[in-house]
Amino acid sequence: MFDDVAPRYDVVNDLLSLGQTRRWRKVVFDAVAAKPGQRVLDLAAGTGTSAEPYADAGIEVVACDFSLGMLRVGKRRRPDIDFIAGDATRLPFADNSFDAVTISFGLRNVSDPHRALQEMLRVTKPGGKLVVAEFSSPVNPLWRTMYIEYLMRALPPIARKASSNPDAYVYLAESIRAWPDQDHLAEWIGEDGWENVEYRNLSGGIVAVHRATKPLPAAAQSGPVEKIRRARRAAG
Ligand SMILES: C[S@@+](CC[C@H](N)C(=O)[O-])C[C@H]1O[C@@H](n2cnc3c(N)ncnc32)[C@H](O)[C@@H]1O
Repeated sequence: MFDDVAPRYDVVNDLLSLGQTRRWRKVVFDAVAAKPGQRVLDLAAGTGTSAEPYADAGIEVVACDFSLGMLRVGKRRRPDIDFIAGDATRLPFADNSFDAVTISFGLRNVSDPHRALQEMLRVTKPGGKLVVAEFSSPVNPLWRTMYIEYLMRALPPIARKASSNPDAYVYLAESIRAWPDQDHLAEWIGEDGWENVEYRNLSGGIVAVHRATKPLPAAAQSGPVEKIRRARRAAG
């Protein structure tokens, strides 16, 4: 499906999100807060649009996806980015090899999101960061109703005109409705071994950005530095 939509993926994205994707991506980039010298994995990176801000800021980013069609479009557009073919549920990377791992609008598409969250934990360095951007559940009931109407009624005809595979956008609407809300996803992330899980709503909850960190090994957690960190966290 993603191979089919690849050629027009970014244009259709901008159209269907009414240009909001750019703002959402900036929030994700700020949440990752990577510094030059650090290594970031952008998982389910598609055509690499979600990986671009890191490359533009001089941060080493690996864009990984299992759709060769998406990767091809990305590599043509941004030959400077390192695109790697890989499955989120069996990542082709060593343990503890990234300072931060991020996934934008991808976790919902992975067949086993828990397995992907565990794999992301495995490849992240202890103390490293996870940032997940995903469609979520608008908090205001009126806004939620309007949004669901848009998803189910307005989006498919627009996609029929603009996309090379309109059925993919019927899947998009249905998968968004079936996806867990903000609190539920936060629980999943915690269950899969991440700590300090928190989230921020964007566009009234149409999108949520979840953040979490990989726990430090038990020995490091009982050291004096960690005691100070814990005391600081407790003090807010
Ligand atoms: C909606 S696109 C998001 C692309 C990009 N992150 C963005 O923000 O534009 C979702 C991507 O998830 C990828 N994907 C789905 N399941 C995957 C898996 N198991 N492993 C790797 N990539 C996967 C698809 O190939 C697709 O490129």
